[in-house]
Amino acid sequence: MALALKEVPKAPGRMPLLGHAAALGRQPLAFLRSLRSVGDLVRVDLGTMPVYVVTSAELVREVTVTQARAFEKGRLYDRVRPLVGNGLATAGGEVHRRHRRLIQPMFHQTRIAGYADTMSNRARALADSWSPGQIIAVEQVMGELAIEILAETMFSTDIGGPAVEAVRRDLPVILKNMLLRAASPKLLDHLPIPANRAFDAASRSMRQVIDDVIAGTRRSGPSHQGDLLSVLLDARDADTGEALSDEEVRDELVTILFAGTETTASTLSWAFHEIARHPEVEKQLLAEVDEVLAGRSATMEDVPRLAGVRRVLDEVIRLHGVTLLMRRTTQEVSLGGFTVPAGTEVAFSLYALHRDPALYEDPDSFDPDRWLPDRRKAPREAFVPFGAGTRRCIGDAFAWTEATIVLATVLARWQLRPAPGHTPKEAASAMAHPDHVPMEVVPRGVPLPARRVGG
Ligand code: HEM
Repeated sequence: MALALKEVPKAPGRMPLLGHAAALGRQPLAFLRSLRSVGDLVRVDLGTMPVYVVTSAELVREVTVTQARAFEKGRLYDRVRPLVGNGLATAGGEVHRRHRRLIQPMFHQTRIAGYADTMSNRARALADSWSPGQIIAVEQVMGELAIEILAETMFSTDIGGPAVEAVRRDLPVILKNMLLRAASPKLLDHLPIPANRAFDAASRSMRQVIDDVIAGTRRSGPSHQGDLLSVLLDARDADTGEALSDEEVRDELVTILFAGTETTASTLSWAFHEIARHPEVEKQLLAEVDEVLAGRSATMEDVPRLAGVRRVLDEVIRLHGVTLLMRRTTQEVSLGGFTVPAGTEVAFSLYALHRDPALYEDPDSFDPDRWLPDRRKAPREAFVPFGAGTRRCIGDAFAWTEATIVLATVLARWQLRPAPGHTPKEAASAMAHPDHVPMEVVPRGVPLPARRVGG
């Protein structure tokens, strides 16, 4: 017989009024990981709001796939809705289904082949801009690159020029303050502090400039260059023939910018860091890149041939993935032997799932070869870096193509060495992204000085 919700075990360390907010604020990633040993379903109090965290691969699958119909997006998404509107990530029910159907073709493999030229050209331009011995802040450089690539694939026309610039300027400000906003009470949004003012100004400016580009493109007609904006404006519902309104198009563009930049930039930054720390992995990877590319930039055709790059990226994303996703029940469900009533906030951490020692041997070690076909052990539902079910990431193939092309194109020309003075640490926002990754760029073929491994 199913047990009542009040029987769900509570995470230790609860404090009056704050609940577990202090523990979550201090060491979010360690806290999320600690929940697995408490149970498959664990109660965590965010202030006075209880959230039920599912910690096993089976229950994550139930929430995202098997029983997905009984869930909508939860509180985290309510708090970002004023900014991203009712875009794909926040919309629910019929609106989500309709938009997903309309937008899916833009992320079809044949479209991504078109975007791949932008990825390749931008990666080459970046590699060309470096000089030997230069120290770069990898997380910043990768952040800018991801924004440029997305902005250029969205607005390929001249009208899009100012939008690319505005997104480059405003998006980092918004991303920096976004999680803070999502986690803090609504009441604080209007305090006239610099963080709020910067956030409000940046989000206003970005939405405005995107609105201007949409209006301009409507006037001059879609570019037919296959950019995301033109495809969105052209999209028609297969059943009703209906198009998206300008506001819906803007919300989708802003959503894609949010969902597609920090995630990809963080993955690439950790990849450069982990590769430099693991000389054996680096050696094999450079051999593969040289064999496939022979010094040129990577293209779409190269992606399937770069199997070692893929294993490195899989391992990076396993170790440093999406920290916390939320849902809310729309009807009563049975979850892990408990009866969960409608309106309950439910959460899960892909980061914690991917480091579960019951699923991954030596889960904290970076070992790309664990993804070799004969060594793969974890069941399929235990590796879900892009989520699962109807809310699975729509940009997974885009992200993978981009990360593979950028990594291989840079490694064909440069080796990145950790610069002394700072060891990157995980900071929790949407992803477990690195705080700062200073690295020195060294041309390939130059003998490297003896280096310290570790850190
Ligand atoms: C390494 C890079 C990326 C990771 C790890 C990632 C991860 C995820 C995850 C886990 C979800 C599911 C969220 C949930 O279930 O609540 C998601 C949704 C989404 N992602 Fe990504 N993502 C990445 C890159 C991208 C890119 C490049 C784009 C766009 C170009 C994108 C667009 C989206 C959108 C629009 C959604 C919402 C889909 C829906 O609800 O129908 N993502 N992503």
